[in-house]
Amino acid sequence: MSRRYFYVTTPIYYVNADPHIGHTYTTVVADALARYHRLCGEHTFLLTGTDMHGEKVVEVATRQGSTPGAIADHYSGRFEATWDELGLGFDRFIRTNDPDHVKLVKDILTRVHEAGEIEFREYEGDYCVGCERFLTDRDLVDGKCRDHETPPERRSEANYFFLMTRHFDWLADYIETHPDFIRPERYRNEALAMLREESGLGDLCISRPKTRLDWGIELPFDTDYVCYVWFDALINYLTGIGYPDAPGFRELWGTCEHLVGKDILKPHAIFWPTMLHAIGLEPPRHLNVHGYWVVDDRKVSKSLGNMISPTVMRDRYGFESFRYFLLRDMSYGLDSNFTEELMVGRINADLANNLGNLVSRTLNMTARFAGGAVPEPLAPEEPETKVAEAVVRAVTLVDEYVRGLQIHRALEAIFQVVDATNRYLELREPWKAAKDPERTGSVHTALYTCCEALRIVAVLLSPFLPETAAEIARRLGVEAELADARLPEAARWGQIQVGTSTHKGAPLFPRIEWPPPEDASA
Ligand code: MSP
Repeated sequence: MSRRYFYVTTPIYYVNADPHIGHTYTTVVADALARYHRLCGEHTFLLTGTDMHGEKVVEVATRQGSTPGAIADHYSGRFEATWDELGLGFDRFIRTNDPDHVKLVKDILTRVHEAGEIEFREYEGDYCVGCERFLTDRDLVDGKCRDHETPPERRSEANYFFLMTRHFDWLADYIETHPDFIRPERYRNEALAMLREESGLGDLCISRPKTRLDWGIELPFDTDYVCYVWFDALINYLTGIGYPDAPGFRELWGTCEHLVGKDILKPHAIFWPTMLHAIGLEPPRHLNVHGYWVVDDRKVSKSLGNMISPTVMRDRYGFESFRYFLLRDMSYGLDSNFTEELMVGRINADLANNLGNLVSRTLNMTARFAGGAVPEPLAPEEPETKVAEAVVRAVTLVDEYVRGLQIHRALEAIFQVVDATNRYLELREPWKAAKDPERTGSVHTALYTCCEALRIVAVLLSPFLPETAAEIARRLGVEAELADARLPEAARWGQIQVGTSTHKGAPLFPRIEWPPPEDASA
């Protein structure tokens, strides 16, 4: 049987500070997508890693009296360890000083140079070290970089240029004829506007003289220069899956989904497709561009010093809760506001009240009224059929939304099943029916229906809230089934085995008090 493939990437993160909410968001989305596609039986590869080169690292090293190598290793290790600790899986954690990557960058530079696509020229412009690139007028607000709020430096030097503009007609045409290549649409329009604007974009400077920067990959055709960090960094997406001849490379590349924040649209929408075109490769299937997490109307970032740490959030609220908020509250492509108060409101409403209550009511009543085992139902009537129909609807919607990168909607669709099941319980009122020995069949039917709905909710939730899903499955006695589950089969109604032992447990998500109670010891 031929299996479908799925390749998803995060940006490779700069190694000048610890991971924050922005990096965590992209990595969580990638993890959730990879888990979903795996659940559908697809051959899945998730690539993440760190961008080791560039001036930022040198700056930090100089400030801290260290070396770029030591700084890059330190922060790179922090990223890898953080993702491990938070249960975010990856198939490879790439570093741009890995030997296979260095070799590939040099091979590609040689090929592109030999093909006459690289030229040596004098260049003068406004350089932002934060962005690691020369800025154009569009990047400046009141003479400062709009992302970093710092004035750029005027720089002039002789450098190598990739003749990117040669590929612009092809690229504009490609974007026009592949309307969902860059999504959501607003970023497609932005990319087209960049291409149309004569002034802004010229050819791409791809070198730095070693006299100024020697932390990078040496140009194979001029040992006085190192490769500019973006040209080096973008190639990671090919190294990660073994371009050109590793098994599965072609299949994976054909399905590639890049996840990137809107600040790095230009390198991904303009530089990268032209680089790929120069070496004869198709662009990735989709460039999925997300917005910013903002706190007090400002992007959360290292340079602004208003970071939210994923491990601090984990210690305070549990990582599944934080992860849920990130996935549920951001509409992919738009900015989203982060405050702990908003997050607590969301956790209490959806996880503690809605889902948590359904789990505890179902399992407590199964213990009390059915001896702690999934009971035998009677033939379904309309209310039972309605719950089963809500599940079928959710399975279709979740698939459509996840593939369209509308994860918040996919979660909404899953929670509609939880809502429908809660409403069903209110209708059937098994706690009242249980007082009447004649109505045992109705009680058992209600509990069977809730257990089965929860089993399917656990399957559907597993890519987004893996630990919660596993815990629900454990309490339902179907942990092993969840581990082997495949969509869509696993979401077919009626698979939970009558007689399976169930287990009550502590509340899945205890209600969080807001504002937090005063610390008595303070
Ligand atoms: N090293 C480059 C990427 C190279 S990819 C070939 C880089 N690194 S970064 O560490 O600065 O940023 C990585 C990602 O984090 C970007 O997609 C960026 O958009 C994202 N975020 C940084 N701050 C963010 C928020 N406040 N909110 C959401 N994501 C943001 O750029």
